[in-house]
Amino acid sequence: MADATKISRYPIAEKVGLSVQTLEDEVNYYKKLANLRFPNIEASDLSANMAQLLAENDELKRRLAQANQHEAYQKWFESAFGKAMPVPNTWPFSTFQQGTPWCDKVVYGMQDGEILYAEHLLGILEKDGIKGDIVEFGTYFGHWVQVICETLERNQWSRNVWGFDSFEGLPEPDAKLDPDCWTKGMYSAPFEEVQKRLQIDKRLYLKLVKGWFNKTLIEEPATSIQKIAYARIDGDLYESCFDCLKYLDGRLVDGAVVVFDDWQFSTDIGEPKAVKEWLDAGAASRYRFEYLEMNMWAHLYARVWHR
Ligand SMILES: C[S@@+](CC[C@H](N)C(=O)[O-])C[C@H]1O[C@@H](n2cnc3c(N)ncnc32)[C@H](O)[C@@H]1O
Repeated sequence: MADATKISRYPIAEKVGLSVQTLEDEVNYYKKLANLRFPNIEASDLSANMAQLLAENDELKRRLAQANQHEAYQKWFESAFGKAMPVPNTWPFSTFQQGTPWCDKVVYGMQDGEILYAEHLLGILEKDGIKGDIVEFGTYFGHWVQVICETLERNQWSRNVWGFDSFEGLPEPDAKLDPDCWTKGMYSAPFEEVQKRLQIDKRLYLKLVKGWFNKTLIEEPATSIQKIAYARIDGDLYESCFDCLKYLDGRLVDGAVVVFDDWQFSTDIGEPKAVKEWLDAGAASRYRFEYLEMNMWAHLYARVWHR
């Protein structure tokens, strides 16, 4: 068992997950560290071996930067959500290969679990008499809107439900502020087809609003929604999330549930960046987040309380 009081001889190596066990490891480790202090050496000045060492060193620096970033993110997360949550090492949080029957089973099982959880949360809002509409930003073909509508109908709970989407897919992601897994136009869904699938003509409490968030959220009918008790933010990108948070400011009721469907483990990109900036710009003086749950796909569930 490790002795927690012992000071590590290889603190940086441990931070980036390098194991230093033999004398050779140790020599290499110090060579890499020495190189870290001379970041401007040109690869062309060096022998092939040294160039390889420099390449390894770049990897070491990348991992070190990532480790430091994780540390900063984890500190921020605890201060913003009141819960210490380590950054997971794998994505999704299982190394089961996607497309295999065992991975499918985990994913579908988890999806069923999440649907039950959403029902549980909507039930709490009902039980506690927390009034307000349900909104989803980023509906695509309407999977989550359908789940929410069925939940309300099954339980005879009555709330307005809103789905906002361009129905043209994602806007252009920002190379610096968004992860590189998304592209412009991804997740486009034909508006009329989605309306039909969601039986919009029968569900008078459900409205779909077509257009870009930075337009639709500052005009009718969005501006006439006064109270929001449950919000799913599923626009994937940093700016889309920021537009939603700006809109939610002043509308989220005390105890509202907010779901971030595309959580990242860095305050430099995506939804966490938007949340951090939104809180720093003043929302932290009006709202306090309470961490609820996070699932394997990094769907983060939180409640917001008025200060
Ligand atoms: C991953 S999909 C949503 C999936 C959906 N929640 C479901 O249950 O299947 C992301 C959606 O966000 C929409 N979106 C992202 N940014 C947007 C923006 N700025 N304005 C309007 N729609 C946006 C895209 O059109 C896309 O349909």
